[in-house]
Amino acid sequence: MDLINDKSLAGALTSKTEAIKMALGKISTIENEVQQNSLEFLFKGFSKLEREQRFAVLKEAGLLTAEDVAFLNRGGLKDNSLGEKLIENAIGYFQLPLGVATNFHVDGKDYLIPMAVEETSIIAAASKTAKWIRESGSLTTRVLGKDIIGQIQLARVRSFDEFAQKVLARKNELIEQANIEVAFGLVKRGGGVADITVRRIERGDGDSMAVIHVYMDAVDAMGANIINQVCEFLKQPIQEITGEKVTMCILSNLVDSKLTEATVVLENVDPELAEKIEEASLFAQQDPYRAATNNKGVLNGIDPVVIATGNDWRAVEAGIHAYAARDGQYRSITKWQRDGAKLVGVFKAPLIVGTVGGVTVLHPTASMCLRMLNVQNASELSRVISAVGLVQNLGALKALTTVGIIEGHMKLHIKNLTMAAGASEKEIPYVQKKLEEILTLKKRISHSHAIEVLKELRSSFHQN
Ligand code: HMG
Repeated sequence: MDLINDKSLAGALTSKTEAIKMALGKISTIENEVQQNSLEFLFKGFSKLEREQRFAVLKEAGLLTAEDVAFLNRGGLKDNSLGEKLIENAIGYFQLPLGVATNFHVDGKDYLIPMAVEETSIIAAASKTAKWIRESGSLTTRVLGKDIIGQIQLARVRSFDEFAQKVLARKNELIEQANIEVAFGLVKRGGGVADITVRRIERGDGDSMAVIHVYMDAVDAMGANIINQVCEFLKQPIQEITGEKVTMCILSNLVDSKLTEATVVLENVDPELAEKIEEASLFAQQDPYRAATNNKGVLNGIDPVVIATGNDWRAVEAGIHAYAARDGQYRSITKWQRDGAKLVGVFKAPLIVGTVGGVTVLHPTASMCLRMLNVQNASELSRVISAVGLVQNLGALKALTTVGIIEGHMKLHIKNLTMAAGASEKEIPYVQKKLEEILTLKKRISHSHAIEVLKELRSSFHQN
């Protein structure tokens, strides 16, 4: 038993010394790199550093302050008073691990991606795949459109055509009123209510329902609260103008008027791999069962950044799933195709996030993550998140069409199995090593393997 620990301790010390050397080497080069807007030297070897060394290089690179590091070392947010303000019946916080994905180069700029997530291998896969693209391709993004949508429902109207005519005739007046009374803050920043349209929806009982769509540019806010206030403000004038009764007002999460697109172009891809990824993509386009899992893989990248930056992940999820089903069948939200020796992947969906207001500023971890991400506005944040989703999808597809998902995922999951089996700090290195051997041999591993190995270790300890 002692022998095992001595050996693993010696090994740990050697790798620690190497990691310290690496960290010190990095620090001396980081300053120059940061000035050139490049994080190349930060990314190189980052995955091999220990936590304190990660802090040291992130501080040196100016991505974290000494206060941030102290805050993280204390275990993050502890003060219950924020929770009390944010939700009802608060009893504490639910902590998620916070990590960073490396190697992201989006639209010519390097990003260190904060990700709040509990699942093993997501951050490793994102970093590994971003490295592949960084070395052999490009990652570009854009936002198409700028307005979010609010809905005002009138469950029944006497004549839809008359109703639509009355609303549209006074539309400019309604927009102006909403901008003066409610959205004035957005107008000051170049946004505000931009348009009003009317939709007819068949009720299925022979009558029509009327739905007004209010389009608003929320600038750097996610905009939910303002668009809801705009719609509720418009309720009364609309009732007065039309003589009809408004049933309800609320934003829509299916924001097809503001889509975020990310494109990966990979050069010189092994033709066999490219073909398999294209086939995997077609599978997810055509089959909703596969599409659901494919999109879960995309959201493996998206949700953790949305959460880390204090944004509403339920809204983002709802928007993406609704957009994925826009033609009546649930489909993949990404598409991969070969183009000669290139492999081209595209993600396009609503991805509405904010960099001002709400939790983004109130939650100290969220504001720290936004600072670390170094985005200038909500549009840049949305673009970077879409890039992470697409990259994450490529990482999963590459694993699925080559070695399978088990190998890489389980290699990293071994730590969780070891802890779940109840191994102590001293026992962990031995159990992990044994589980790695079993995984290599049997190509599968489970909780019961971990229990067995631990049992054997403990009984051999008692025998000696
Ligand atoms: P590997 O080739 O064994 O990794 O892959 P490696 O040790 O050679 O390292 C390569 C790079 O990966 C590193 O570069 C890191 O960037 C990163 P370096 O820093 O050395 O220059 N990396 C790590 N970063 C931080 N900590 C680590 C670490 N390890 C590697 N410990 C890997 C291993 C897991 C990355 C690979 O097997 C992989 O990408 N697998 C896919 C895993 C995945 O997609 N997981 C998501 C969960 S599964 C799921 O829910 C989605 C799914 O259902 C979706 C779908 O069906 O489409 C699959």
